[in-house]
Amino acid sequence: MSQKQRVNFGSRLGVLAAAAGSAIGLGNIWRFPYELGQNGGFAFLIVYLLCALMIGWPLMLSEFTLGRMGQSNVAGSFRSITHVKHWQWLGVMGVGCALLIMGFYSVVCGWTLEYVYQAVTDGFSGKTPTDLSQAFTAFSSDTTRPILWMLLFLLVNCSIVLAGVQKGIERSAKMLMPFLFLILIVLCVRSVTLPGGMEGLKFLFAPDFSKITPSVVLSAMGQAFFSLSLGMGCMVTYGSYISKQANLERTALEVTGLDTLMAILCAITIFPAVFAMGIDPSQGPELVFITLPTVFNQMPGGYLWAILFFLLLTIAALTSTISLLEVITAYISEELRWPRKLTAILVSLLIALLGVVCSLSMGVWGEYRIFGLNFFDLFDKFTSYILMPLGGIGISLFMGWHVDRKRLELELSNEGTLKLKYIKVYVFLLKYVTPLAILLVFINQIVGLF
Ligand code: TRP
Repeated sequence: MSQKQRVNFGSRLGVLAAAAGSAIGLGNIWRFPYELGQNGGFAFLIVYLLCALMIGWPLMLSEFTLGRMGQSNVAGSFRSITHVKHWQWLGVMGVGCALLIMGFYSVVCGWTLEYVYQAVTDGFSGKTPTDLSQAFTAFSSDTTRPILWMLLFLLVNCSIVLAGVQKGIERSAKMLMPFLFLILIVLCVRSVTLPGGMEGLKFLFAPDFSKITPSVVLSAMGQAFFSLSLGMGCMVTYGSYISKQANLERTALEVTGLDTLMAILCAITIFPAVFAMGIDPSQGPELVFITLPTVFNQMPGGYLWAILFFLLLTIAALTSTISLLEVITAYISEELRWPRKLTAILVSLLIALLGVVCSLSMGVWGEYRIFGLNFFDLFDKFTSYILMPLGGIGISLFMGWHVDRKRLELELSNEGTLKLKYIKVYVFLLKYVTPLAILLVFINQIVGLF
């Protein structure tokens, strides 16, 4: 291993923007509100907060620490910390997981661009909910259009990663993240002040603890995992770019907090509007692409709000895909010693290929099924039900049980210069709570599959 100093994020704000950018994505804007709607509103929120704090935070802190200690890509970091070679396979699995996630995630990213385009060209107005639903199905199963949008998205994504850690990832995150928050706050205020919007808030915040069931707890845990980008090395890779002076304990808390805040703001934005327009709140995947255009159609000034919303969705998705591409690019370019730029381009091409397969599986290739799932769903389920939980358990066992406690404390405290506030809580959560809780989700999901 060369002693050359690894590229670092240039500032504290840069670290925060990049890591929060990875975490905040389609998971917050689309998945969280809908899970909340179907799992009892307030009850789900409370359980989710507990999960984010008790599983999300320790795992994120472990991933940051692992990356900064290892000073390498996700597999290389394991190797430089331990002599037991097999741990590195956990990192390799993370890279495979990132590739598969990118396969289906980039298809949805392409959809977000189409919807920005539709919003700008006033494509929703005058359409009934049935028209909008048919339009979505026709578009997503089309053979060329979604693929073209996806390729455009991947091009932008790749060009940012090409520009490097500081000039590409950090700079774009610092520009995009404040914009993201701004759009969301504007939308949130608009939604809450709609006549009838209060009903939506009641739905979200009226406590009804009878709705907390084991399946609600398990969904909340799964959501925390996906939303915080954990279990496959995103935060390990970003951790390796965090400077040795940064306070990891605090950064992990801040990123967890921001991601959670963002999810809650999204719910506060979506539900009042949905209730104000008299639409059923327990919608599934169609919430963003069918229900919301209906809402915008009925809303005063809807044309502008629709543009803002889909822009928000696109930006959030972009900062997440940047982190996924970086995991793979860093791994391949460092392990095979390929030039970084060339690697980013080749990886993007490979992702495009997987994306085409996933996109076509929504239409003409729909009849090719594995375990009854088309490619799109297969990639989605295989990563979030199997690879990510396994990665999460592996990382918590590695950091909690395998890495020497002294060494862990030295890294966390920047060689003793920082006072650690939560180290006891952290180690306890990491050794016992996190792996057991994830194991529970994992078993539940596997059982649910059959
Ligand atoms: N967390 C992002 C979201 O909420 C998605 C994402 C980015 C992700 N990187 C990840 C999910 C790694 C799982 C693993 O949309």
